[in-house]
Amino acid sequence: MEKRNQLLKFIVTVAIIAAAVLLLGGFFGGDLMYHLKNRGELGPLSREDIVYQNMSAPNPTSADGTVNANDWSNLYPEIVATMGANTRNRYVLDYLEQDPYLVNIYEGFGFAKEYGSARGHEYTLEDVAKTQRPHAMANCLTCKTPNFTKLVNDQGVGVYSMPFDEVLAKMEEDISCYTCHGNEAGAEGKIVITHSYVNKALGENVETIDAATLSCGQCHIEYYFTPADKETMMPYSSIDSMTPEAILEYYDTMVLPDGTVGYADWVQPSTGTRMLKAQHPETETFLLGKHASLLNCADCHMAVEMSENGKVYHSHELVSPLENETLLSTCTACHDEPDMTAFVRRIQERVTARETEVGNNLSTLKDKLTEAVTSNKLSEKKLDEIRKLHREAQWFFDFCYVENAEGAHNSNLAFRCLDTAQTKIDEALALLS
Ligand code: HEC
Ligand code: HEC
Ligand code: HEC
Ligand code: HEC
Repeated sequence: MEKRNQLLKFIVTVAIIAAAVLLLGGFFGGDLMYHLKNRGELGPLSREDIVYQNMSAPNPTSADGTVNANDWSNLYPEIVATMGANTRNRYVLDYLEQDPYLVNIYEGFGFAKEYGSARGHEYTLEDVAKTQRPHAMANCLTCKTPNFTKLVNDQGVGVYSMPFDEVLAKMEEDISCYTCHGNEAGAEGKIVITHSYVNKALGENVETIDAATLSCGQCHIEYYFTPADKETMMPYSSIDSMTPEAILEYYDTMVLPDGTVGYADWVQPSTGTRMLKAQHPETETFLLGKHASLLNCADCHMAVEMSENGKVYHSHELVSPLENETLLSTCTACHDEPDMTAFVRRIQERVTARETEVGNNLSTLKDKLTEAVTSNKLSEKKLDEIRKLHREAQWFFDFCYVENAEGAHNSNLAFRCLDTAQTKIDEALALLS
C-alpha cells in the first residue's frame, strides 16, 4: 500500500511539473519568446544623417508671440507638411460601444456619456470644442494647443480656472511647434519643455528622462487638476514614483483644501465610491518598460525620412510603427522576429482579452455594491471597506485600459495592473457575500 501511494505521489508530481512546464512554455515560450540580436542600425536612415541647422526664428504672426507652423514653413517645409499630415489619423472608435461595461463602471462621470479613441494632433481643438463631457474651465485646453501653454507661461496658473469658452475663442493652433520646441526650433530643433507643470512635478529629475520622450510626456501622461488652483499636475516626482501603486498612494494621501484626505475625480452616485479616473499614461508605461533605456518615443513614432532634394528629417506625422514601413524596419535592429506586427498583435490580443474579463467583473462588483448600499444590510464601516477596494480595483483596471498601446509598451505592467484589479475585486466580493 505504502509503496503504491509513493508511486502515485511520484507520478502525480511528475505530471504536475510537466503540465507546468508545458503551460509556462505556452505562455512565455510561444508568443513571448524574444529573438533579439546585437543592436544594429535603426533603419536605413537615422538621426546621424540629419544635418541640423542653426538659425534664428522667423517673426511670429500669432497674436500671442508663438512662432506657428506657418511661420516655419519656409525654413522647414518637410516638417511642417508632415505635422499637417496628422489629419490623416481621423478614425474614432467608440469605446462605449465596443466595451459596454464601461458605461456602468464610469457611472456618474463624463466618460460614461462619451468615450472615443484618440486621433491625430490636428484635431485637438475641434475635438475639445465638441465633446459632450462637460468642461467648465480652461484647464481642459492644457494638452490641446500651444496658445494655452503660452498664456499660462505669460500670465500664471490663474489661467487654468478661467471660463473655457472665453479662452477657447483665443486659441489659434492645434498642437504645434511651440508645444515641443518653444520658439527655438531653429536652434537645431532643440526640444523645449513648455508645459510648466512638468518641471514643477519632476524638478531635477527632468534630466533623467530623454528630452524627446519628455516632449510627449507633457501630455501622454496621468495627471490631475490641483484642488486649489485647478492647475494641471502630475502625481509623481520621478520615474520610480510613476508606478500605478505609487500614484495611488499619492492620491490616497493628498490633503484637500477642506482638510479631508484622499483625492477623488468623482464620487460614484450609486455606490458612493470615491473614484479615480486614470488618463492615457503612455509615458509612465513606456518609462517603466523594456525599451526605456534603449529608445525614445520618436524612435518608434516619428520616421526618419529623406525629401526629394536629399534633406533628412524626422517626420512629424505621429504614427503607429506597425502602420509605417520605415518605422517597422527599425525594429529589426534588435528583434529577430519573422513578423513583428503579428508579434505585437499577439501581446495586444492577450492584454485586451484580460481587460474585457476584468472590466466585466468590475461591473459586477459595482452592481453588487449598489445592491448592498440600497438594501442597508451592511454597516457604513463595512461598506467603506468595500468602497476602498472598489476604488483601488478600478484604478488599476483603468491605468491599463486607458493606455493607448494596449500592452505593446509594457505587457508586464499591463498584466500586473489587471491582476491587481482582479485580486481586489475578489476581496470586495468576498466581503459582500
Ligand atoms: C509633439 C512634439 C513636437 C512638435 C509639435 C514638433 N516637434 Fe519638432 N521634434 C520633436 C521631436 C521629438 C524631435 C526629434 C528629437 C530626436 O531627435 O529625438 C523633433 C525634431 C525637430 C527638428 C530637428 C531635426 C529633425 O528632423 O529631427 C526640427 C528642426 C523640428 N523638430 C522642428 C519642428 C517644427 C518647425 C515644428 C512645427 C511645424 C515642430 N518641430 C513640431 C517634437 C515635436
Ligand atoms: C500638447 C499635448 C500633447 C503632446 C505634447 C503630444 N501629444 Fe500626442 N496627443 C495629444 C492629444 C490631446 C491627442 C488626441 C487628439 C484627439 O483625439 O483630438 C493625441 C494623439 C496622439 C496620437 C494618436 C493616438 C491614436 O490613438 O490614434 C499619437 C500616436 C500621439 N499623440 C503621439 C504623440 C507623440 C509620439 C508625442 C511626442 C513626440 C506626442 N503625441 C506629444 C496630446 C499631445
Ligand atoms: C519600441 C517602440 C515604441 C516606443 C519607444 C514607443 N512606442 Fe508608442 N507604440 C508602440 C507600438 C508598437 C504601439 C501599438 C501600435 C498599434 O497598435 O498599432 C504604440 C502605440 C502608441 C500610441 C497609440 C497610438 C496608436 O496608433 O496605436 C500612443 C499614443 C503612443 N504609442 C505613444 C507613445 C509615447 C508617448 C511614447 C514615449 C513615451 C512611445 N509611444 C514610445 C511602440 C512604441
Ligand atoms: C534597441 C533595441 C530595440 C529596438 C530597436 C526595438 N526593440 Fe522591442 N524590445 C527590445 C528589448 C531588449 C525587449 C525586451 C526583451 C526581453 O525582455 O527579453 C523588447 C521587447 C519588445 C516588446 C515586448 C514588450 C513587453 O513589455 O512585453 C514589444 C511589443 C516590442 N519590443 C516591440 C518593438 C517594436 C514594434 C519595435 C520597432 C518599432 C521595437 N520593439 C524595436 C529591444 C528593441
